[in-house]
Amino acid sequence: MILVTGGAGFIGANFVLDWLDGVDEGVINVDKLTYAGNLGTLKSLHGDPSHIFVRGDICDRSTLDLLLARHQPRAIVHFAAESHVDRSIHGPSDFVQTNIVGTFTLLEAARFYWNALPADERDAFRFVNVSTDEVFGSLEQSDAPFSETSLYTPNSPFSATKASSDHLVRAWHHTYGLPTLTTHCSNNYGPYQFPEKLIPLMIINALANRQLPVYGDGQHVRDWLYVGDHCSAIRKVLAKGRPGESYNIGGCNEVKNIEVVHMLCDLLDDIRPKRKGSYRDQVTWVTERLGHDRRYAIDARKLGRELGWKPDETFESGLEKTVKWYLEHEQWADETTSDEFQDWLQINCQKRA
Ligand code: NAD
Ligand code: TYD
Repeated sequence: MILVTGGAGFIGANFVLDWLDGVDEGVINVDKLTYAGNLGTLKSLHGDPSHIFVRGDICDRSTLDLLLARHQPRAIVHFAAESHVDRSIHGPSDFVQTNIVGTFTLLEAARFYWNALPADERDAFRFVNVSTDEVFGSLEQSDAPFSETSLYTPNSPFSATKASSDHLVRAWHHTYGLPTLTTHCSNNYGPYQFPEKLIPLMIINALANRQLPVYGDGQHVRDWLYVGDHCSAIRKVLAKGRPGESYNIGGCNEVKNIEVVHMLCDLLDDIRPKRKGSYRDQVTWVTERLGHDRRYAIDARKLGRELGWKPDETFESGLEKTVKWYLEHEQWADETTSDEFQDWLQINCQKRA
């Protein structure tokens, strides 16, 4: 078996669903089910004995020790995190707790478990730390994309806590020899993404005839990757990556925010036209995010060269799939957008009025 943390969130759940679809190996899925975790996403696995879901906190050492001892996984893939930059600006405390203390607790539990394994299982064991390109800070337009050796210059409370967690992972490899691998992926999009992030928020707001809030001048650049391609890259890193190494993951899809929003509006205009006008009419310019990183871009050539990975989706094909998915899963979105979520939209909106 493998143990996955955060497997009820956006990327973790996509990873678990893809894994169980393609591999004959079970998953223990530990997730705290914060506002971002959603068991509805894993509904199709109900009754499947190869998926064991445990509601648990990665800060809880005794739960982790128990699960490792009971299920003896051969690897850990660590997704669990507080992941939204705007929330980290509003309230950084949970980010410090989960992203730093949680990763520390998981590393310690993994180290004690791994130390006690027989030699061949120790050699084969892997700890994959799913990190982000945001730890490298912000690029100017003329800068080369981030490589694996780019300096860590995190700018938001979110990216600072992810950077801290990466440093802990690195130290646990260097000091104790724990076979860790770290991945740095660019912005993901696709099915089951919680609608606080740019792409699903715009789709859901567009359909509900709400404003499409674009921060600042809308010229900020993100390098978008379809979530299924991120998951296939993580499987490659788990299977063939060299312990102690880090791998960048990205799809070479640098797009300005306003262009992303316009592309979404145009897709919706085609697939589900409004009675009158275009979804573009709902675009609203709102106050800038504090400390807003201008540009992210990823150089993923190492992953291609060393592990033979390449993405399947272009930004156009992935975005069309995503829009269609949200149109076909409006109930999922309704169930996800709880009262807590409506409160958050209200808070975020008031800050930007
Ligand atoms: P998400 O917010 O959708 O999901 C996070 C999951 O972790 C949720 O299910 C939540 O319940 C769970 N969780 C939170 N705190 C926990 C705790 N203390 N113990 C156990 N579970 C806990 O996030 P995501 O977008 O799926 O991101 C997953 C990982 O990938 C994160 O580490 C993130 O930094 C990284 N990443 C995300 C992106 C992106 O664009 N979304 C890009 C690169 C890297
Ligand atoms: P987001 O999806 O929050 O990801 P990240 O901050 O990790 O890159 O935001 C993507 C970009 O979209 C970012 O530059 C902020 C911007 N944005 C908006 O303009 N409006 C919004 O309502 C949101 C959520 C984000």
